Amino acid sequence: MKPVRTLVSAVVLGATLGLAVPASAEAPFGNQTDMEMATSLWALMEYKGLAGDHAVMTRPYKGIQPHGMILELIEMPVTLHGQSGPLIVKRNYGGDGIDIDDVINDPKRYLQAVTIMLKREAGYDAENGDWFYVKYDARGNVMKNPKGMSLAGRVAKGMQTGCIACHKTAEGGDFVFNHDRYK
Ligand code: HEC
Repeated sequence: MKPVRTLVSAVVLGATLGLAVPASAEAPFGNQTDMEMATSLWALMEYKGLAGDHAVMTRPYKGIQPHGMILELIEMPVTLHGQSGPLIVKRNYGGDGIDIDDVINDPKRYLQAVTIMLKREAGYDAENGDWFYVKYDARGNVMKNPKGMSLAGRVAKGMQTGCIACHKTAEGGDFVFNHDRYK
């Protein structure tokens, strides 16, 4: 019995220390590293006035699906954990029959999601332009897909729908629809 018990405790200990789970076996998105990155990024966005109560307001425009009826788009270079790259922030507003003036006058009431793309280091996701995606709710919580997976990281790499599958079709092959600056 003794050797078996020793083996069991070694496996339990290994799992506790994270040894039994190599990084490559982690889901391509929604894992702990992605969630930590998403949390630091939201804090940085609040600090930079890109999100939260003191966010800079731009003139919203009428959007198309899936992002929402009224949108705002802001872009700037950021440095996070020692790595710099462009950050694209899209604020998604919705509500019955809303128009641009409703959003300008009371943005907090209609903000439904903040979707972002952050260009990561080369090799992060080489075949998909090295973009890190997050879908936050209005308060900065990472939202989930219907399967309960958190929408942060390489969302949803290898799947037929989701951020990557759709953004792959953007003109210029840079995964960005609004322009081709990162071609
Ligand atoms: C079904 C297609 C589709 C899906 C899925 C999708 N997007 Fe988009 N996205 C678009 C389109 C089209 C635009 C450009 C039009 C606009 O401004 O809404 C866009 C624009 C953006 C932009 C502004 C940069 C750009 O590409 O112009 C960001 C940031 C963004 N999406 C993030 C996300 C995130 C994060 C997800 C996943 C949670 C996601 N998108 C899922 C179609 C999609």
